[in-house]
Amino acid sequence: MPERCTYGETLLKIDHVSLSYEDKVILRDVNAEIRDIVREGRTQGQVVGFLGPSGIGKTQLFRIVAGLNHPTSGQVLVNSTLTPVKAGMVGVVAQNYPLFENRTIFSNLLLAAKQMENSHESAHEKVLKYLRRLDMVDQAQLYPAQISGGQRQRIAIAQQLLCSEHFLLMDEPFSGLDVVMEAKVCELINEIACLDELNTIIVVTHDVTAAATVADHLWLMGRDRDPGGNFIPGARIQETYDLIDRDLCWHPELTNSPRFLEFVREVKERFQTL
Ligand SMILES: Nc1ncnc2c1ncn2[C@@H]1O[C@H](COP(=O)(O)OP(=O)(O)OP(=O)(O)O)[C@@H](O)[C@H]1O
Ligand SMILES: [Mg+2]
Repeated sequence: MPERCTYGETLLKIDHVSLSYEDKVILRDVNAEIRDIVREGRTQGQVVGFLGPSGIGKTQLFRIVAGLNHPTSGQVLVNSTLTPVKAGMVGVVAQNYPLFENRTIFSNLLLAAKQMENSHESAHEKVLKYLRRLDMVDQAQLYPAQISGGQRQRIAIAQQLLCSEHFLLMDEPFSGLDVVMEAKVCELINEIACLDELNTIIVVTHDVTAAATVADHLWLMGRDRDPGGNFIPGARIQETYDLIDRDLCWHPELTNSPRFLEFVREVKERFQTL
């Protein structure tokens, strides 16, 4: 039986978003919503896996959700106040995890925290909290060049969460990782999501298995077809999979089960029609 959860307020709403470059339609009336997942006795964040073929418009939508690009029409609303998104409200973890190379890890994080915290003391406190949670206290006085790729990723995630509150977008966090690291990053994403009830992470990826492992919902982006079977320009979210409802969420040991593998196969098959 699926574990019970209820849904609270809407945290993010993609509202009739369309995007064109001159006469080239990239996104056509994209609508989606993320609501607070409420589990009794737990702090439960939200993780959405965002899948779609190469060139379909994932990064374009990602930039719009982050407030970095404006759609041609429609809007993105964030927080329980449903405020139109502006750059800086949503953390973005890019592929290369940029950090200031001439500052220590601690100083990198303090700089981010000061954007949100009023006092030096509270910023300091918050940085320490994240370093402890991410098991990086021992590396605090090192410089970015002195830590590993995986550690750098953790610091980049912490940096973005410190300066953007609850939202985090990650573009291809699994690319170039071996299977052990991939599992660790999935774990980390879930951990980060559950640091706060309102934390919401959108993971953009090509990797169906990793997306299904990490997410509570999957969004599959693709184009519609006309009656003749030809693609209509402009992508939409074609499919939303609810992994909680399918009881494929919050059981890490499930990812090797036949049920889980069958689900991954189903998503991959659908993927191939997009
Ligand atoms: N400035 C631009 N002008 C015109 N077309 C653009 C512009 N930027 C992106 N595009 C087009 O938008 C489409 C979607 O690109 P996007 O980068 O969002 O794809 P994606 O789904 O992220 O692909 P990938 O998985 O390969 O990263 C592509 O066809 C691309 O050529
Ligand atoms: Mg992309």
